[in-house]
Amino acid sequence: MNTEDQIKEMVRQKYSEIALQDKEANASSCCGAGGCSTEVYNIMSEEYDTLDGYNPEADLGLGCGLPTQFAKIKKGDVVIDLGSGAGNDCFVSRAETGETGKVIGIDFTPAMIDKARVNAEKLGFHNVEFRQGDIEKMPVTANLANVIVSNCVLNLVPNKKAVFQEIHRVLKPGGHFSISDIVLTGNLPDKIKSAAEMYAGCVASAINKEEYLGYIHEAGFNEITIQKDKPIIVPNDILKNYLNDEEIAIYQSNPTIIRSITVYAEKKQSCCDPKSGCC
Ligand SMILES: C[S@@+](CC[C@H](N)C(=O)[O-])C[C@H]1O[C@@H](n2cnc3c(N)ncnc32)[C@H](O)[C@@H]1O
Repeated sequence: MNTEDQIKEMVRQKYSEIALQDKEANASSCCGAGGCSTEVYNIMSEEYDTLDGYNPEADLGLGCGLPTQFAKIKKGDVVIDLGSGAGNDCFVSRAETGETGKVIGIDFTPAMIDKARVNAEKLGFHNVEFRQGDIEKMPVTANLANVIVSNCVLNLVPNKKAVFQEIHRVLKPGGHFSISDIVLTGNLPDKIKSAAEMYAGCVASAINKEEYLGYIHEAGFNEITIQKDKPIIVPNDILKNYLNDEEIAIYQSNPTIIRSITVYAEKKQSCCDPKSGCC
């Protein structure tokens, strides 16, 4: 992998292909139009279909957690979903904000934005909006959101530190986020790290869990809590696309280093806010 812009272009192309092919093709293909990345996702995605607001057309099987489960969304909240894809978590969030709230999905892949807008239109939602943009520099004014959610996206972004600083900027004082993502607790084999398919599949670009949490601290968040932490077990039939038998054996001796976490944190109340009690 080379420059950050080239990485982003590769990610955008992969997700464009995934947006443009149908869900059945996504689920059944490895190295088809959706690429191996799709197969990697199938080992990560969670069951969504029991959640209020679930829309099967928005669920492309690309998540790795259930961020809304810990997002404490209230009626009337403004919620932003980072890397919203076809809108899966936006529609689940909309079920919680109701008519009086607002949900904004941000994604940098035009085909995903188109798909999400079609889904919102079919549902007749006027308070769910999709904006095309890079979450390293969000197309959103400061202090706007009560809640930010994101599902399996930040790992794809070269500058994760910038994303957490942006999250801090766009959250209202006292607002919070709930983010599901992939992190590591050990070293990935180099051949996996350099595979574009594994990058787009949210594995090769994941960083160490401590470094990830460090960026959240540095951005100024409080009450940082890991709500969920589970291993992602990559089966041998995926590993064999990248590693030889000996390398697979070494990898499988410590198979739990890839983790799906859901992390929650709060932006401090402003000192000028009487509710914070510090004025
Ligand atoms: C793994 S998919 C997850 C989609 C959605 N969250 C879901 O669970 O269905 C990652 C999404 O993040 C978007 N994405 C990746 N990097 C991004 C960036 N820097 N800014 C905005 N969107 C990005 C991709 O276009 C893609 O739609």
